[in-house]
Amino acid sequence: MTSAKRTAVVFLTTLVIFLAVSSTVEGDDNTKTLVKYKHGEKYCDKGWECKGWSIYCCNLTISDYFQVYQFENLFSKRNTPVANAVGFWDYHSFITAAALFEPQGFGTTGNKTLQMMEIAAFLGHVGAKTSCGYGVATGGPLAWGLCYNHEMSPSQKYCDEYYKLTYPCTPGADYYGRGAIPIYWNYNYGAVGEALKVNLLDHPEYIEQNATLAFLAAIWRWMTPNKKYQPSAHDIFVGKWKPSKNDTMEKRIPGFGSTMNVLYGESVCGQGDIDPMNVIISHYLYYLDLLGVGRETAGPHEFLSCAEQVAFNPSTKAASS
Ligand SMILES: *[C@@H]1O[C@H](CO)[C@@H](O)[C@H](O)[C@H]1NC(C)=O
Ligand SMILES: *[C@@H]1O[C@H](CO)[C@@H](O)[C@H](O)[C@H]1NC(C)=O
Ligand SMILES: *[C@@H]1O[C@H](CO)[C@@H](O)[C@H](O)[C@H]1NC(C)=O
Ligand SMILES: *[C@@H]1O[C@H](CO)[C@@H](O)[C@H](O)[C@H]1NC(C)=O
Repeated sequence: MTSAKRTAVVFLTTLVIFLAVSSTVEGDDNTKTLVKYKHGEKYCDKGWECKGWSIYCCNLTISDYFQVYQFENLFSKRNTPVANAVGFWDYHSFITAAALFEPQGFGTTGNKTLQMMEIAAFLGHVGAKTSCGYGVATGGPLAWGLCYNHEMSPSQKYCDEYYKLTYPCTPGADYYGRGAIPIYWNYNYGAVGEALKVNLLDHPEYIEQNATLAFLAAIWRWMTPNKKYQPSAHDIFVGKWKPSKNDTMEKRIPGFGSTMNVLYGESVCGQGDIDPMNVIISHYLYYLDLLGVGRETAGPHEFLSCAEQVAFNPSTKAASS
């Protein structure tokens, strides 16, 4: 053995010992937290709920601060006989799906308050989009989130032939709204399916048969930008997005309002104080209260609203520009 090789072996042995020593067990319950340092940054691995070395896994995980009783509290009416998806949605599916995105910062970014706020915001979208609550519903209109898991009376097949080369419609498949933040159209089923490695173009019905998959698709949408240079709803919400000059000019500011913009565009934003927007905001604030964070932490109405915002992705180019 040359001395250079010997030095390398000694170095590697030392490194292995160092890593073994630096891997500690924290956790007060039965979750083991593995810790290592690289370039002065702390990385952790918490097993199934936050797997893979990530800076985010050093923080609380979602199940540390959001438990079964809280899920039941938020979605208290979903299993009443008149609900449309009785027995479908549950806490376990949500946590199983969320676990895959926790290493990327979903519900694990910032302090506990911000973490809980992100879960309230994400679920606020979900609750509003799956609600069958109406003005006189028992328990109030906000207690009826996760009542649906698919669109009830689709008026069409949502097949856009423009995407026939990339995301061709499968004969017999219908791409109507399904899921926790409902997916519509062949190209959206195609893109989500590609990302999650599930053949949703042939089997869009999987989304209404598997609650974990339905939550996975929704969290993926929350975490993933529509376009490379745009922020995801997550980026916007946790403050990772810096608005450009154009954004500022078009009234897109960091906050809950812009998450609606990036997810739904003109169908919700830039139309003034309309119901489809206010219903989403109301669910978010209601969940903040139920989680004990309190709606006052959400900040002033201008951050919550997107009433005056121009869409990130306008459906038609403005004639004036
Ligand atoms: C938690 O973070 C938020 C924003 O990221 C901040 O406004 C708040 O003061 C922090 N709370 C505590 C207790 O540090
Ligand atoms: C982890 O939590 C701390 C405070 O609770 C926060 O300051 C820090 O930003 C969080 N880490 C990440 C990567 O968000
Ligand atoms: C539901 O979907 C998840 C994610 O794709 C998958 O791991 C699981 O096996 C599915 N469950 C069933 C019963 O098909
Ligand atoms: C800003 O807006 C103008 C006019 O709408 C557009 O031509 C330009 O490409 C935009 N710039 C960026 C960086 O998006």
